[in-house]
Amino acid sequence: MKPTVSSSLAGLFALCMGMLTPAISQAQDGESLYQTCAACHGAEGQGNAALKAPPLSHLTAAYIAGQLQKFRNGQRGGEGDSEPARQMATMAATLPGDDAIGTVAQFAAALEGIPEGEAEISGDVTLGGDYYNQFCGACHGPGAEGNKALSAPSLAGAPDWYLYGQLKAFREGTRGAHPDDRTGRQMRAMAGVLPSDQALRDVTAFIAGLR
Ligand code: HEC
Ligand code: HEC
Repeated sequence: MKPTVSSSLAGLFALCMGMLTPAISQAQDGESLYQTCAACHGAEGQGNAALKAPPLSHLTAAYIAGQLQKFRNGQRGGEGDSEPARQMATMAATLPGDDAIGTVAQFAAALEGIPEGEAEISGDVTLGGDYYNQFCGACHGPGAEGNKALSAPSLAGAPDWYLYGQLKAFREGTRGAHPDDRTGRQMRAMAGVLPSDQALRDVTAFIAGLR
């Protein structure tokens, strides 16, 4: 049947509404969903060192959503993981579903807050740079900007206390030890390559200086 003018106009209208409505309500939902997160991660996604909550503003929506899924399905923040990770798992469980995860992740990734605070971890930046170029840059990128295809997050923009804490967690198996956590396992192997605790500090000091 040949469409009449009015039915194709109606079709066009429906199409436009279909394109506009989700965009508008998604922006609102993202903001309201993020209210809970702001209490710890900061209104601008800048993080809060006292609460051990990292910034989110330097991360991509895909990585944030992926981690929220892991916190929900027990691959991160499950039994045996650190106290802050378990706390975050409780928060992720309050999100109603995949749509909410995608929406809040997009909102958080678009924030532009920059973490404040002094450096806490001291290390040999030159040695740290050597470790980084040898063991880390292939996945996280030469400027630690991240690599989407490899699911490797940006590290530039993360504060030193968080970077060091996560490297230690990977090494000790309080992150990335879950059998289904494929990317976590990858990163566990890499954290194990660094020869000592001081090497973790050296590479941390180097990365923290990149932002
Ligand atoms: C009660 C405080 C608290 C609240 C509220 C909270 N978080 Fe977190 N979040 C944390 C802590 C602490 C960590 C660090 C976990 C760790 O050390 O492994 C974290 C980690 C994360 C990470 C992992 C970041 C990375 O670099 O891997 C993401 C993503 C995240 N939170 C998103 C959110 C979102 C989105 C919300 C709101 C729905 C939220 N958080 C609410 C405390 C909180
Ligand atoms: C084979 C690729 C690969 C290499 C090499 C690699 N990483 Fe990673 N890294 C990843 C992936 C993938 C993740 C995300 C893990 C997840 O999904 O939980 C990650 C996560 C991290 C995190 C946690 C970031 C956050 O926001 O929570 C830190 C810190 C980190 N890597 C540091 C390093 C350092 C330092 C090196 C070198 C010693 C290194 N990585 C080498 C792939 C890699």
